[in-house]
Amino acid sequence: MSDGHQKKTFVITRFDPDQDEAPRKQSYEIPVHPDWKVLDALNFIKDEIDATLSHRWSCRMAVCGSCGMMVDGEPRLTCKEALSQYGDTVDVAPLANFPVVRDLVIEADGFMEKLTHVKPWIIRAKELAVEEGPMRQSPGELEEFKQFSMCINCMLCYSACPVVANEPEFIGPAAIALGHRYSLDSRDEGAAERNKVFRGEGSVFSCSFANECSEVCPKHVDPAAAVNQAKLNAVIDWATDLVLPRGGEPPQLPDHFPFSGRYLAYTLFDLTGILYLLLGFLVLCAVWSLGSGEAVWNDMLERHRNIFYLGFHAIALVGLIFVGIRFFGFFPKAQPPRVGPVKPPPKGVILVGLYALWIGVTVCLSIVLAGGVF
Ligand code: SF4
Ligand code: FES
Repeated sequence: MSDGHQKKTFVITRFDPDQDEAPRKQSYEIPVHPDWKVLDALNFIKDEIDATLSHRWSCRMAVCGSCGMMVDGEPRLTCKEALSQYGDTVDVAPLANFPVVRDLVIEADGFMEKLTHVKPWIIRAKELAVEEGPMRQSPGELEEFKQFSMCINCMLCYSACPVVANEPEFIGPAAIALGHRYSLDSRDEGAAERNKVFRGEGSVFSCSFANECSEVCPKHVDPAAAVNQAKLNAVIDWATDLVLPRGGEPPQLPDHFPFSGRYLAYTLFDLTGILYLLLGFLVLCAVWSLGSGEAVWNDMLERHRNIFYLGFHAIALVGLIFVGIRFFGFFPKAQPPRVGPVKPPPKGVILVGLYALWIGVTVCLSIVLAGGVF
């Protein structure tokens, strides 16, 4: 209860869907205690003046995340914000960027759905048997993700985010921080699955790095850092997808290994990725020798003018065709890699382009190595 020494006016946004066509403002002048938080004032109004006021709260100690509201236009946890830092008039409104249920209560279902999109649970290729005991984690491994696990789902970051305001389908900072937290967990093996979600529409690449989410976060989660780390991981995954078949994921050994044709096919599929890496290395060597003078270039040509190199290149070509058929033909659900909202060209165009490129490179290299040009 107030000691009555000071009074403040609270201008509260009210909305009753059964009576109001649009939100309206209502003022309450009340005596306040110097130690009160904003939530104490709202509770006083509800208990002593106007029982029809609706607002949400629970723990009163910045843990449950339910008391987020706009206080003087900024998203704040009302149980954490000291009333003394505000002037004689305090404006309280529901969190921005959310539908309003009533008065200061917002609809959180969309936010909850976004949380599930990032698969916020430990994903394992194979669960440990109970008799194998607990999965141990070192303090260093815990430290990797601990900051991102401090989120209390208060939604302040969604209210502050200009991208959420413009693109309601943006999965948003807290959900990305949550998914990233699990991807950083040493017990988890689901980072590749989450990166696919992060690369999709309305995800990490929608973020314009306004950094507002981290500014308002009451638990110092730094969701902007999570979003940008997730962006980097998604790009690395995209590049890996491009170079390595199946994104370099290790093949799952079938029970009847090693006598399974399917397993051998997968192994071949992965080995072609190693061929591409080797070829990339050779191309880099060629570029280096090009810039190092004629003698080094000629020496490089001489060393590669042999049947092994041409044979290697031919095998790589066969490998590419094999990968193309497997990736584009045998797995109808496989999707070409994509970054952000940019739509990839049709699979057939990519496939034909790859083959044309490879055949062109093979022909040119063969002519050069056979001495037909220089
Ligand atoms: S990241 Fe911070 S601001 Fe966003 S929901 Fe979690 S605790 Fe709240
Ligand atoms: S009441 Fe729980 S966080 Fe404010």
